[in-house]
Formats: sequence, structure tokens, C-alpha cells
Amino acid sequence: MSRRFEDDGKSVEEARFAAQRLAFGPLMFQATRALQRFGVLGLAKNRGRSGVSAVEVEAAIEPLSLYASRQLLEAGLAAELFVLRGEQFVLTTVGYLLLTDPMTRANTDFVADVCYEGMAKLGDSLLSGKPEGLSVFGEHRTVYDALVDLPEPVRQSWFAFDHFYSSGVFAAALPIVFDPKPKTILELGGNTGKWERACCEYDADVQLTMLDLPGQLQTAEENFRTWGIADRVTSHPVDFLDPSVPFPEGHDVLWLSQFLDCFAEPVIVNILERCGQAMGPESRLYILEAYWDQQEHTAAQFCIINLSLYFAALANGTSKMMHSDRMRDCIRQAGLELVGEPTSIGMSHTLMRVRVPAS
Ligand SMILES: C[S@@+](CC[C@H](N)C(=O)[O-])C[C@H]1O[C@@H](n2cnc3c(N)ncnc32)[C@H](O)[C@@H]1O
Repeated sequence: MSRRFEDDGKSVEEARFAAQRLAFGPLMFQATRALQRFGVLGLAKNRGRSGVSAVEVEAAIEPLSLYASRQLLEAGLAAELFVLRGEQFVLTTVGYLLLTDPMTRANTDFVADVCYEGMAKLGDSLLSGKPEGLSVFGEHRTVYDALVDLPEPVRQSWFAFDHFYSSGVFAAALPIVFDPKPKTILELGGNTGKWERACCEYDADVQLTMLDLPGQLQTAEENFRTWGIADRVTSHPVDFLDPSVPFPEGHDVLWLSQFLDCFAEPVIVNILERCGQAMGPESRLYILEAYWDQQEHTAAQFCIINLSLYFAALANGTSKMMHSDRMRDCIRQAGLELVGEPTSIGMSHTLMRVRVPAS
């Protein structure tokens, strides 16, 4: 084959194989899920370097026939979860990660339970600007309106995915947000209230206000009672898509974590404008997001770009994970200004500090 395209360092054979991985990707994914679910990966891990044969899988895992065992082990070989030593399938590092790595588990469960079926409607969603794939869970405007009603394990996988990424950076963000110490914090889109809990545990005096859709507030308020912080957090139902709704004023800090990526750019600008109207000259607004251009590891960039596709087909049809320049532009358009350089604070996230410019 002649070299007519950009040389990405792959041989023609490697490129051909990469193309087949895409062609058969959904089949490999389902086989991987079955290997996890039936405990074949776990069995192979326990056997270490001796690995497992199809006969041993059939004997050890009750419902699996010899046919099913062979199917799964061979699929795992193609997916590079095993290497073959004689009759024995030995777990690879990829197989080990699929079994034990919490991030891989959160991603795999999210793709299987939340995304898989609806992603078939990606093309339709890109054309209509609506999350057409969400119809697999009933009639909803956005995934956020659907959250309270999602069936299990869909709901559990959505929350586990969301929390995995944001809660993992709270510890790094808290010392920054609490220097200087705020008396009051307003969170937009607080979801289950984990940030409020982290702040109350970090500082004995801070008072918080949380805004979100009514369905999410029900869960959050229950959580606040359980965690014993109900007297320190006030919550208000809002629909951020309604541009006429002003935000509560008088807070030292405004906290927007994994939140602005839920909206189309014109809506982001409008939300930031309303933040600006609620802020005083000393207020600090923090935006915590993962930007696809700010990633040290190719794997992180890969995950973030894939997440954008979920936003198109299932979440709302209009938003995506952003390039950091797009966020800078939204901040500027909203009449606000970035303070200093954004900070990279782990788990692929960047923290931007924003203020109302001095007039
Ligand atoms: C991805 S979650 C982020 C949750 C949390 N801030 C975190 O860092 O884990 C986005 C939150 O924004 C809320 N949200 C999205 N669209 C909304 C809307 N139109 N009105 C009110 N809240 C909305 C969702 O309900 C959800 O709780």
C-alpha cells in the first residue's frame, strides 16, 4: 500500500490491525464484560503464571459450558487480556487492570450500563442536537432530568463514574479554595453534595449553598442529614437552562466542578455572566474541569474525548469536554477574567480561578 497519508509511525500492518480493532471493538467490549462478570478474569488472576485452560474454566465456573469457556478465553486472547502458553491462558497486565484498577472499572461500567445502547444514536444526535440515545431510558430532556429515575445498575454506574473523577481531586482543591478562608461558598450543580461534605469536614465554620435540579436536591438533602451538616448547607432548586434565573449573591467563593461541561458554549457564557452578577469585587470563582488539550497522558486524552461523545448522544446533545482555550474564551465573553495561570491538580483536572475585573 502506498504511503498517501500522514505518517503516524505505524507500519501498514499495524495500521490495518488498528482499523480492525475499531471494526470489532464493540464485540471485544462485550466479551470483556462477560469475562469480568463470569469471574474468568478473577480465576486467571488467582492461577497466576499457570493460567487457565478452557476445561479448567468449565470445571471452576458453574454456569459456563466448555463452548462458552473457549469463546471467552479466545476472545480475551484477541483483546490482549491473556497470552497463550500451550493450553493455558495467562492473564496479562491489561487483563489485570480490567479486573483491579478502579478507574478502568468506573469507565467500563459507565460505558456498559449508561452508554452502550444509546451510543448507536450518536449520528442522529449530532444531526438533531438532541441526546437521541437517551430514549433507551424513556423520554427525558437531558440525562440530568433522568438521573432520579434511571434503573439500576445504570444509576449506580453513572454516579460511580461522576464521583470517581471529581471526588478524587477535592483533597488537592480544598487548600487552594480555603486560602484565604471563605465564610460562604456557593456551588452550582452540586449533585449528591460530596463537595459540601468535604468543605464542612475541612473547615468547621464555612456555610454553603448548593444549586441543582429538584431531583438531585432530594438526594443531596437526605445526604446532608445523614452526614450531620444539614444546618450548614442551604439548597435551592434551579434550572440553569432558564437564563432569567439569577444566582444568590454575597458568597466569597463560587464552585463549579465538572459542571460547565454539561452545557453548550452560549449557555456557559450566560451562566458565567449570571455568576458575575452575583459576585462582588473580592469573590473568587473556581472552575474545575478536565480539558482534552491539557493531558500529560494519551490515555487521559482518549478518555476525555470519548466522554464528549456521551454528552452528544446521551447527556444533552449540545455540550462536550472542552479545549482549555474555549473555556478561556467563554470567561472573556462573560466579562470575567482569569486570575493567574490555571493549576493542574491531578486526576486529569485543571483548576481555573476567575474574578470580576476591577472597573
Ligand atoms: C456532572 S455533575 C457534577 C457534579 C459535581 N459538581 C461534581 O463535581 O461531581 C453536573 C451537575 O449539574 C447539574 N445540572 C445539569 N444540568 C442542569 C440544569 N439544567 N439545571 C440544574 N442543574 C443541572 C446536574 O444535575 C449534576 O448534578
